Amino acid sequence: MTIDLAAFARALPKAELHLHLEGTLEPELKFALAERNGIALAESTVEEVRATYDFTDLTSFLAVYYPAMGVLQTARDFEDLAWAYLTRAAADGVRHVEMFFDPQAHTSRGVPFADVIGGYRRAAVRAQAELGVSAELILCFLRDFSAEFAMATLMEALPYRAWIVGVGLDSDERGNPPEKFAAVFARAKQEGFLLTMHCDIDQDGSIDHIRQVIEEIGVDRIDHGTNVVEDPALVSAVRERGLGLTCCPSSNSFVTESMKADEIVQLMREGVRVTLNSDDPAYFGAYVAENYVLLAEHAGLEPADLVTLARNSFEASWLTPARKAAFLAELDAFAEEQGVARG
Ligand code: ADE
Ligand code: ZN
Repeated sequence: MTIDLAAFARALPKAELHLHLEGTLEPELKFALAERNGIALAESTVEEVRATYDFTDLTSFLAVYYPAMGVLQTARDFEDLAWAYLTRAAADGVRHVEMFFDPQAHTSRGVPFADVIGGYRRAAVRAQAELGVSAELILCFLRDFSAEFAMATLMEALPYRAWIVGVGLDSDERGNPPEKFAAVFARAKQEGFLLTMHCDIDQDGSIDHIRQVIEEIGVDRIDHGTNVVEDPALVSAVRERGLGLTCCPSSNSFVTESMKADEIVQLMREGVRVTLNSDDPAYFGAYVAENYVLLAEHAGLEPADLVTLARNSFEASWLTPARKAAFLAELDAFAEEQGVARG
């Protein structure tokens, strides 16, 4: 039997664990929100917007990413953004998603924290009710701002604790190592949040940053972290702790010279809990199912490997054990129905 890989990848029940809500802002929605909020944009067509997506690294991506967020002004805007992503994700077989949001990118330009999280939360609640998709929020601190601003943001988030499953760290890694935020993450852990941090691809000090997040911060997961493959002792540490790595093939191909397919597959074969995700799909041209297809085509993966990656996504998620078990049973039933050997 030949399998239509794209259809298989879309139907495969999966969790998405590395997704920036602000990175789901498609040009069409950007224009609609600009019009609704009376904002003039530099570009006037979708093609003109896409022509600016000519990134060479993380820094050049972020230089396009942050200004685009200016169209997000009201709670309704944030809800519409998240809802558009969640409907798209449902069509990609996403059963559970843990979505990053960057409150400081909005509060720093005068948008109230309550409006940002209020809009996102409404979409998450609607997703469960109307799409059957489970959706949680992860608050990310921007690492190129100060640790003091991050701590103040954590304090601002405490009244909304029930809506936030964990905290993360993103933005420009250059000169902003994990240890800069050690006190903020220690406090977040004390407050009951789970912890993750970006260790972006091919950064100066990538290996040292991965070591810091494991040994000094004590994260529960690592975002990207693919460079760990260069250090066998660290690979063992990641595997022994059962830490998930949230890899993003299409994103990698935009901000580095390749999608890092060989590295991702090597880690998967070595028993690391590797997961596939879309990162900022409106910018990197591929939602999560397409990331499965891209990696499969590039590295010659079999459907059973995709089932393994989907299994990892639920296992590395921050669901309760009972909910994890229910999704894993759904995945097993899908694999059996498709005649795919246990992944
Ligand atoms: N913000 C949005 N996407 C990001 C990424 N891949 N790395 C760091 N910061 C980000
Ligand atoms: Zn990211």
